[in-house]
Amino acid sequence: MEQLLRNFFLFLSKNKLFTKLARKYGLRFGAGRFVAGETMENTAKVIQELNDKGMDVTIDHLGEFVDKEEEARQRTEECIEAIEVISEQDLHSQLSLKLTSMGLDISEDLVMDNMRKILDAGKKHNVLVTIDMEDYERCGKTLEIFKKLRSEYELLGTVLQSYLYRTVEDIQELDQYNPNLRLVKGAYKESPKVAFPEKKDVDENFKKIIKMHLLNGNYTAVATHDDAMIEYTKELEKEYNISRDQFEFQMLYGIRTDRQAELVKEGYRMRIYVPYGDDWYGYFMRRLAERPANVAFVLKGVFGK
Ligand code: FDA
Repeated sequence: MEQLLRNFFLFLSKNKLFTKLARKYGLRFGAGRFVAGETMENTAKVIQELNDKGMDVTIDHLGEFVDKEEEARQRTEECIEAIEVISEQDLHSQLSLKLTSMGLDISEDLVMDNMRKILDAGKKHNVLVTIDMEDYERCGKTLEIFKKLRSEYELLGTVLQSYLYRTVEDIQELDQYNPNLRLVKGAYKESPKVAFPEKKDVDENFKKIIKMHLLNGNYTAVATHDDAMIEYTKELEKEYNISRDQFEFQMLYGIRTDRQAELVKEGYRMRIYVPYGDDWYGYFMRRLAERPANVAFVLKGVFGK
């Protein structure tokens, strides 16, 4: 049943009509629990509140699978504006984005042009930009673009997903760039031809890549709500005497907030991924797919308490 629901929400996450309707009618159905706001103005307040609790942030200007140049240019401007607000208000925040939002599906020239504009702003204001990882179809292209841009810009990171068979090789291949990587399990629906179908294998591979990347001496963001993975990282820290300056934990806004606070108390760097913007629908559906128990919460949002 849980697997059925998961597939259902992942299927819904790609529905273009629902995406448009969601944009038109604003944050609904309890999405506000996972999305900080529709404007940067509201979001800046949320970032400040998290900073006050000792947490760092990466904001994600929601948006994906953009197929019009004009829209990709607009999203780019919005990312630059976000970087400027971070700098003006002295917020402890980085920026995350998706290449399909910057025009990846339209042309490589467009996405490179948009990314360079954003990375120039990041360089000017000292804000690191992380390229989120999307579905397998776009993984190879995303990493090629990352490598090109990484040779031009210091303040750039990306994401690798432990559910993909290719990821162990990617960790090795990317080592020469000393990359700042966020490691995750992976949130898209992928074929068993390219991704481990069993959760236990995804978890084992997650541990493997955390260890590899840390022992390669690279900065590692362990992005998970899974206590087993958090404990494993702490064990590595002790066993290999890894400095707390070399890694951080990351969690999504609105998920396991108690655990987030505990990790801060224990002295770990904790970064919250804070999504904002009107394009919240696909993101929200993927969060429901991860944990169908949240559906009860959504139904309350639809039908009232
Ligand atoms: P898992 O799903 O195994 O959950 C472990 C436990 O965490 C659960 O038992 C439950 O207790 C709790 N939990 C998990 N999800 C929850 C939820 N929605 N609500 C309440 N509790 C929940 N993916 C991707 O493909 N590309 C990307 O760029 C990113 N970026 C990213 C950034 C950050 C900061 C995070 C935390 C995650 C991502 N992801 C991602 C998503 C990631 O791939 C994965 O889908 C989710 O993190 C869920 O996997 P967990 O590691 O949390 O473990």
